[in-house]
Amino acid sequence: MTDDVLVVHGGAPLHGQIRVRGAKNLVSKAMVAALLGESPSRLFDVPAIRDVEVVRGLLELHGVKVSDGVDNGELVMDPTHVETASSDEINVHAGSSRIPILFCGPLLHRLGHAFIPDLGGCHIGPRPIDFHIQALRQFGAIVDKTPEGMHLTAPNGLHGTKLELPYPSVGATEQVLLTAARAEGVTELRNAAIEPEIIDLICVLQKMGAIITVHTDRVIEILGVSRLHGYHHRPIPDRIEAASWAAAALATRGEIEVLGARQADMMTFLNVFRSIGGEFEITDDRVSRPGVTGAEGGIRFWHPGGELQAVALETDVHPGFMTDWQQPLVVALTQAHGLSIMHETVYEQRLGYTDALNQMGATIQVYRDCLGGTPCRFGRRNFKHSAVIAGPSKLHAAELVIPDLRAGFSHLIAALAAEGTSRVYGVDLINRGYEHFEGKLAALGARVERL
Ligand code: EPU
Repeated sequence: MTDDVLVVHGGAPLHGQIRVRGAKNLVSKAMVAALLGESPSRLFDVPAIRDVEVVRGLLELHGVKVSDGVDNGELVMDPTHVETASSDEINVHAGSSRIPILFCGPLLHRLGHAFIPDLGGCHIGPRPIDFHIQALRQFGAIVDKTPEGMHLTAPNGLHGTKLELPYPSVGATEQVLLTAARAEGVTELRNAAIEPEIIDLICVLQKMGAIITVHTDRVIEILGVSRLHGYHHRPIPDRIEAASWAAAALATRGEIEVLGARQADMMTFLNVFRSIGGEFEITDDRVSRPGVTGAEGGIRFWHPGGELQAVALETDVHPGFMTDWQQPLVVALTQAHGLSIMHETVYEQRLGYTDALNQMGATIQVYRDCLGGTPCRFGRRNFKHSAVIAGPSKLHAAELVIPDLRAGFSHLIAALAAEGTSRVYGVDLINRGYEHFEGKLAALGARVERL
């Protein structure tokens, strides 16, 4: 047991306003992109989360001067003097995040070699990096995997290539973008991920001087350029955090306005939220509050009273229902009337957290079969990746240990919705992706305290 424990007195609705900043899954990649430029970059609205610290540490080890700008959340990264870092120093960051794998292309361009530590991130399946390695080899990199980490060189430089991903992986698409932007010649990537965070990364690269075209049918074409410069960028808001708070509003029968949340990035989530019986309003000041100036808009989510309805859902790549929305929403679905189905098709082992919800009084059964929709890659492969949630269930307090980031937040929501006092162990993990979550909980009237 860890000693970072949050005591949660549950059973009361959350009410109030919180703000989300730049998306964790864009900000960290935009920081890596800064390494490709020959002049400083400025990134705004950067959340104070652990993943940002890890990438900052790695950039600094490679000679990038990183400083806080004048704006709150502004980061200035000066990559003028990029240098080799020792593998021992890099290995301090081993196991802390998935982002280091994205340093491959930029470091090969800047230094001709790269060392990547063992990766970390959430334990939600095997999370292989075979697509990344295959892509890097096609660009001309020599990849040498050793027990201490991965060494890469590119003795003949990096050259554009034609690639097709076996699955539209977010990370592998980013790997290709960050490598191809400065590779010699044209790269054509088929079956690419097209998540809003990917499009925002393409915007960052375009600001830096890259030439990238997004065609229909998941085809991205990159015309390599020899030099890139720094960028100024305000990232898209964190749509995973926004949905997590929305689910918390529904599960606790409360009302939360998520300032900064953007409708366009969350359409699929909003449709599901409405189908269950949750209500929302787009609080864009220009539209819904004429005359009000200076205030910031977002999305207000609430439980309108009455019964919630069960739904059948499956997670998918964009524009489908995000896998990271799944865990918080399942907590809300424990309060819906009838049988809900959640078919997880992105990660094969992302339903383990439902055991803890069952201990709290939920009735969730997990299955190996592909339930509810189309068969996925995990069917008949022995992975329990479909859940049936029978509701409504009265949740009661429990002792919970946080297993990973998104599941961790869902445990927290369950504890807030449950009657009684829960203890949540390992809450510091939540800092990886949710900025100041304890302050936000306090602002929403949650009764929580550190042990
Ligand atoms: N995959 C492979 N081989 C690879 C790469 C991926 O088989 O080389 C498989 C994965 O095992 C998985 C699927 O492809 O089954 C999708 O993985 P993807 O590469 O898209 O995920 P990722 O880039 O590692 C990012 C986010 C995740 C988010 C997924 C899906 C970051 C840092 N992480 O992961 O976010 O769930 O895309 O949208 O951007 C989180 O924020 O908590 C989180 C886990």
